[in-house]
Order: sequence, then structure tokens, then C-alpha cells
Amino acid sequence: MRIENSQLAAALPKLGVELLPCTSLADYTHFGIGGTADLLRIRDRQAIPELVRLLHREGIPFRLLGGGSNLLVADGDLPWVVLQLAPLASAVRIEGNTAWVDAAADLGATVTQCARANLGGMEGLIGVPGSVGGALRMNAGAYGTQIGSFVREVEIFRSARGQIETLRNDAIRFDYRHTSFDPDDMMLAVKLELLSKPFQEILQGIRICNEKRRASQPLNQKSAGCIFKNPPGASAGRMIDALGLKGFRVGDAMVSDRHANFFVNAGAATCADMLRLMDAVREKVRYAYGIELEEEVIIWKA
Ligand code: EPU
Repeated sequence: MRIENSQLAAALPKLGVELLPCTSLADYTHFGIGGTADLLRIRDRQAIPELVRLLHREGIPFRLLGGGSNLLVADGDLPWVVLQLAPLASAVRIEGNTAWVDAAADLGATVTQCARANLGGMEGLIGVPGSVGGALRMNAGAYGTQIGSFVREVEIFRSARGQIETLRNDAIRFDYRHTSFDPDDMMLAVKLELLSKPFQEILQGIRICNEKRRASQPLNQKSAGCIFKNPPGASAGRMIDALGLKGFRVGDAMVSDRHANFFVNAGAATCADMLRLMDAVREKVRYAYGIELEEEVIIWKA
């Protein structure tokens, strides 16, 4: 969708919002897949309530993009504008055992920055791609660690009420790749409580996780990480692999030959290709195991 109202376009810079017209979301997602929309980059978090009010007034639907690492976006002209928090120059503020982190901060960089201040616990999250905001929304996790365990407070924009609020951790549920935030809540910042640990010890943990990841995941291919959630007591990757589906493809959408729960864009895959591949694999798993796989990746269907 394009912003055609010139008054609205003129109001954006005053709110600290940069308009990137007709942007290909393929350039903003790790899959390298996605159609076009106007992209609004938000520098001033406090301007979000006013920005959202203006968009509502003009009847312009919008979606919030994080780091684009766990996202499959529809092809073609997209029927919404896309909002994204512009990264801040200093995204992490450390006070004792706690770190206040801006939602646009890169998760891996945040783990490293906290480590330098001798704050650890999040080593398992080191190779999880994407922004801190996206990680919070999904309760991202790896190697037995989930971001939700460290959360003390989250600052969000509550779309339903049109205002910025701070939630304490006891008001939020963090489950496996799922949280109790409303779908249209926007993550703005988080207060994490971390463990005091010497930098070298944290670094050792980080190295171990990086090695494990390199050994099992296709890190240099365009993917959105694991495509399906692991069903209770089972492994989606192991089941898909056992069906001999590594390398199985629809167009340029392909089951990774390294890890069967990673689907990759092996060239010029479209969203339609990827969805067809997901359906085909889901069907085969349902037939063979009687298990319905649920997607882990977020899908923006037009
Ligand atoms: N396996 C196979 N073949 C494969 C892939 C895996 O046989 O092609 C087997 C492995 O040998 C292992 C089991 O399946 O015995 C589990 O595999 P792995 O250890 O790779 O973990 P996973 O359950 O597939 C989960 C998360 C990953 C996270 C890793 C490490 C989900 C859906 N996936 O993968 O998270 O990085 O554990 O903790 O929970 C993501 O969320 O996008 C993601 C990649």
C-alpha cells in the first residue's frame, strides 16, 4: 500500500518518521521473499501513538516489522504499510544486573554487549537472528534458553488503547514460541535481569552454542530458521528428515539438505512457492505420523 495523502506524508518527518516509498520487503526479510509496500521507519518511539492515530484516521492498515528473521511475507502489492523501529545509536543501558534494551536492537549484539558488562545467562540466544522486539513477541529460544526467563518489564505500545504502557513480567505469559501479548501490541523496550558472570565464562558458552548451530543449521542460506514448531514430545526436523524430504522443493523453495525443519529460498522463491512447500510437507507428516505441524514462522498473507 502507498501513502497517497500528501498532508499525511508531510506530517511524517515532523514525527521523526522516515517514509521509504514502495519498498521491497524481500530486502528486509531473511527469506529474501516479499512484495512491496511503503515502509515507515520510526526514530522517535514517543511519536508512535500520534502516528498510529493518523494512520487510523486515514484508514491505512499497517503491520509492524521487526528484524524480518522469522517472517514470510506475501508476494506482490501488499495491502498495508509497514512500520519499523529505526535502530538507536545506544540501544542497551546497563544498571547493575539489569539491562534496558531497545526493541530494535539486534538480539545477538545485545547478548554480546551484556556479556562485556559481565552479564550472562542468554548465551543460548547468541545465534538467534533478529531484533530483541521480535524475540520478545515470539519468546525466542535455543539450547534450553528462552528470552522470557530474563524479562522483568516490557514497554509496549498497546494499539487497543492507543498508548505506551509498561508491563511487569507477572502480567505476561511466556510459553514455547508464544506470548500473551495482543497481536497488535508493539514491543518498544525491555528490562532484562541477567546473571553476574565473568566475560570469559560467558564467551565460552557463546562459542559452544555457535559451534552446535554451525554443525546442524544452514546458516549461510536464506531461511527463517525453523519453519514448524516442534510438536509436544516430537521433533519436526527429525520427522521431515526421516521421510527423506531433505532437498524436496517447490520452485526455489526447498527443504534444507542440512536441517529438515529449515526451509530455504534457494534462488528466486516466492511466498506462494514456500506456502506450497509447507503444505506438501505438512500433508506428508500428517499422513505418515498423524501429527499436524503448526508453523513457527510468522506469515503475512495479503
Ligand atoms: N534432526 C534430524 N534431522 C534433521 C534435523 C534434526 O534427525 O534434519 C534431529 C537431530 O539430530 C536431533 C533432533 O532432530 O536429534 C532435534 O534437532 P535439533 O537439535 O537441531 O533441534 P530442533 O528441535 O530441530 C530447536 C529449535 C531451534 C533451535 C534448536 C537448538 C524449534 C522449532 N527449533 O530445533 O530453533 O535453534 O532447537 O536449541 O523449537 C527456530 O526457532 O527457528 C529454531 C531454529
